[in-house]
Amino acid sequence: MPDYATHIARRVKELAGSPTVSVMDKARRLRAEGRAVVDLSGGDPDFPTAPNVTEAGIAALNAGFTHYTPSRGIPELLRAIARKLETENGAVYKPAKEILVMPGAKQAIFVAAQALLNPGDEVILFDPCWVSYAPCAELAGAVPVYVPMHAQTTAAELRVDLTAAVTPRTRLVILNSPNNPTGQVWTAEQLQIVADAAQQHDLWVLSDEIYEKLIYDGHRHVSIAALPGMIERTMILNGLSKSHAMTGWRLGYIAGPEPLIEEMLKVHQHSTTCAASFVQKAAVAALEGPQDYTDMMVGRYKARRDALVSSLNAIPGIRCELPQGAFYAWPNIAGTGLTSTQFAERLLDVEAVATTPGNAFGAAGEGYVRLSYANSDEMLADGAARIARFVKSLR
Ligand SMILES: Cc1ncc(COP(=O)(O)O)c(C=O)c1O
Repeated sequence: MPDYATHIARRVKELAGSPTVSVMDKARRLRAEGRAVVDLSGGDPDFPTAPNVTEAGIAALNAGFTHYTPSRGIPELLRAIARKLETENGAVYKPAKEILVMPGAKQAIFVAAQALLNPGDEVILFDPCWVSYAPCAELAGAVPVYVPMHAQTTAAELRVDLTAAVTPRTRLVILNSPNNPTGQVWTAEQLQIVADAAQQHDLWVLSDEIYEKLIYDGHRHVSIAALPGMIERTMILNGLSKSHAMTGWRLGYIAGPEPLIEEMLKVHQHSTTCAASFVQKAAVAALEGPQDYTDMMVGRYKARRDALVSSLNAIPGIRCELPQGAFYAWPNIAGTGLTSTQFAERLLDVEAVATTPGNAFGAAGEGYVRLSYANSDEMLADGAARIARFVKSLR
């Protein structure tokens, strides 16, 4: 009998699985057992992919576009991405040298970490943040260092905390605006503080802009790459999962300085070769075609956000601010007397509502849970009613 426990890579053994994926899996299991689950845990749009995009994918398949492509991505997609980054984000990257297409933005983070980080390097993350940044850094042997960042954090506090977190080992800062899980949109002033630190201490910045299109109430997305002196040290990460409801197609990209992209290309060539061929054709249609489908989704998300947040705020013990972007509500549940984990686990067991405990996103997330409003109006109303019943039962 092989010794399964011992002969496993330590760096993987020590890694926890994705908490968001594990809640989604548990919700699926309960549903398979026949329970009427309201799953508000995942970040997967409930809208189908826009018909023009799906048709472009099907046309590519029917035309036999089903083979390896250039590892970086097909030239027409690289050009479409470069056009988008220049016109929408004010960031000029050379399509043939400074952009890499990958099967998902998550893969791009993994590849970036493998290419840029040495064991013992430190990576600054803003707490709370998305669950996969720290594991990607750790798989490269690097160490995450957390800087708290809340809606209430002032510019002065951010500057002090960020400066205190930088050491001679700091190599990379990862930021995410609009933020998963809080929905916070970084202001130009906040981004400038990160830019100042990056320039002063010679750091790379990985700017995860995957929720860029999902933004409400006149808040504006600013890419840190467009700030003076930042294009040469910033990698913009983006993809079509959220903006174009294309999670299952797996299409993301990273843009950055040529010397960094060249190193990432090697990791990408040896791990995935290229993103799926026909998906890349669909991605061209998504980026170059009409954007009214995205506008429609944003309008629906905003209405759902308003309804969900107002239902949550009507529950004694729960407080929820209006998220500025992305598609997550981030209610503070500390007033119920439960920890994040207790709240999420009991809510799932008692009322079959799946949420993600806030502490999965970092220590600063304790006292919160994350609810995705990328779900139907009916599902959200049902979920809010069940949460109200659950909280009432605690008294
Ligand atoms: C902040 C953030 N970045 C990146 C991703 C990865 O997206 P994908 O791999 O589907 O492109 C997600 C998905 O949930 C996310 O929330």
